[in-house]
Formats: sequence, C-alpha cells, structure tokens
Amino acid sequence: MLGLIGFKAPLTSLKREDWVQDLRGEHLLSGLKLMSVKTLTIDGVDVAIEEGSTVLAAAKAAGVRIPVLCHLDGISDVGACRLCLVEIRGIRKLLPACVTEVAEGMEIHTHTPEIDEYRKMIVELLFSEGNHVCAVCVSNGNCELQDMAIEVGMDHTRFSYNFPQREVDISHPQFGIDHNRCILCTRCVRVCDEIEGAHVWDVAGRGADARVITGLNQVWGEVTACTACGKCVDACPTGSIFRKGSTVEEMVHDHSKLEFLVTAREKRQWLR
Ligand code: SF4
Ligand code: SF4
Ligand code: FES
Repeated sequence: MLGLIGFKAPLTSLKREDWVQDLRGEHLLSGLKLMSVKTLTIDGVDVAIEEGSTVLAAAKAAGVRIPVLCHLDGISDVGACRLCLVEIRGIRKLLPACVTEVAEGMEIHTHTPEIDEYRKMIVELLFSEGNHVCAVCVSNGNCELQDMAIEVGMDHTRFSYNFPQREVDISHPQFGIDHNRCILCTRCVRVCDEIEGAHVWDVAGRGADARVITGLNQVWGEVTACTACGKCVDACPTGSIFRKGSTVEEMVHDHSKLEFLVTAREKRQWLR
C-alpha cells in the first residue's frame, strides 16, 4: 500500500503505475516523498500506519492502551522503564512498544498473563528500589507511578525495600529534586534537552548507583544553563522534581504546556 505526503491534487484518479512512471519521468510528482504504510493487528484490531511508526503509536491509533512510564508525547523514546513490553508473534522475546518499529503483518499482543505479570513485577521493583512514601509526597494523588500501581493491580511489593540513602537538592530558587522518588525514567533529561534546549540534566553512575545529575554534577542552583522554565517539573512522573512551596498532594503536573509547545513547534505556529 502506498500513500503520498505533500500532494494536494486528487490522487484517486492515479494508479500506482502512474505515480512510479511520473516520478521516473520527473513529471507531475517529481520530488514528492512516497510513504509506505504497514498493516498489522494489535490485540485483534487491524491497524494501517505509516512506516517507521512505533508499535506504541500503532496501538494508540488502534485505541489499545499500553502502559508507559518513560514515554512522554513530544520527546524521543529511550525504552527505559520496560512497562510497554509487548508480545509479537514469531519473536521469542518481549519487545518494548515505544522503541519497536512496526512491520508488515505483525501480530501484536499487549495484555497476556505473562506480560501483565512482568508489568506488575516492574512496578513492585520500582517501589522497593526507592523511598516512595506516598503519604508524605507532594505528588500523592497526582503521580503516574501510583496510577501505574493501581493499573497493574499492585497492592504490595513482594521484594524487600532497599531504603537507599539519597539526597534532596533544594538549591534552586524555585524547584527541588528528591532523588528518593526518582525512577530514572530520564524524562527530565530529554525534555530539558529536546524542548527547552538547555541540557541541564544527565544520568551519572551505573546500575544501582545511577542517578540524574544537574550541570557537571553541581547542585541545581549553581547551574547557570537552567532557565527555570519548569518543563522538567511538569515532565516528571513522580514527586521527584517539585516546585518549592508545594506540600503533600499539592504538586500537579501539567503536561498540556509541554504538548502545546511541541504541537506549536511541529506546526511552526510561531511563524504565523
Ligand atoms: S527548569 Fe527548564 S531549564 Fe531548568 S532544568 Fe528544568 S527543564 Fe531544564
Ligand atoms: S527526576 Fe523525575 S523525570 Fe527525572 S528521571 Fe527521575 S523520575 Fe524521571
Ligand atoms: S514506555 Fe516503553 S520502555 Fe518505558
């Protein structure tokens, strides 16, 4: 199946052979980009989507919800949290939907008993690995990790708590970061780099010692590159990055600001 980008004349009268002939002859459709469409099924729903799209995007198009934590619309995907793992017929291992491209004829299953069990286990591990004391968290009631626990049916963790000793940095005049609640999704890193263009955040360390850092491992308040735009605050799925002055349950993450900026940039609205 073929579709065309950027061609405004009616295409219904053209046959595939016409397009190819015209492109070869550099006539009517010269310079236009041909776009291939892939057809696949997700949980039994037929989907046709542009080549290069991710399985996650295809699932959205099909109206199938796949749980995500590190994915955020408008920024790149890194496949960090593994909550979006799906089963693809003919492939033995589970693949993350956010970084797997669609292919023709794929048969994808997003909610098998095995996947649901893995997802629950991942969320349990996230809770046991940090210090997520929801009752005293600024994001209590407005936390994607909490929501995810409810979605996967987790009411306790089967793993022992690590109780790590982690820092809280409140050196920034407006914001703070509590590393105890960080799940290393790296949304802050990507949103600051890709949308704000400030690249204040990075990940340092390996394995259990990995953590997000600001600047060259300086305290946040000393990083002059920070514009105090607050995008990382809104992107953070937990109460890890917060606005100063927020108390328990007061931190609300507003993704609509990020979506507005991304849409405006994609459509070049600021040029109008
Ligand atoms: S407030 Fe803005 S510039 Fe500063 S770290 Fe967050 S996203 Fe980056
Ligand atoms: S601070 Fe928040 S956004 Fe950044 S990695 Fe940790 S949980 Fe994710
Ligand atoms: S959303 Fe795909 S790995 Fe996190």
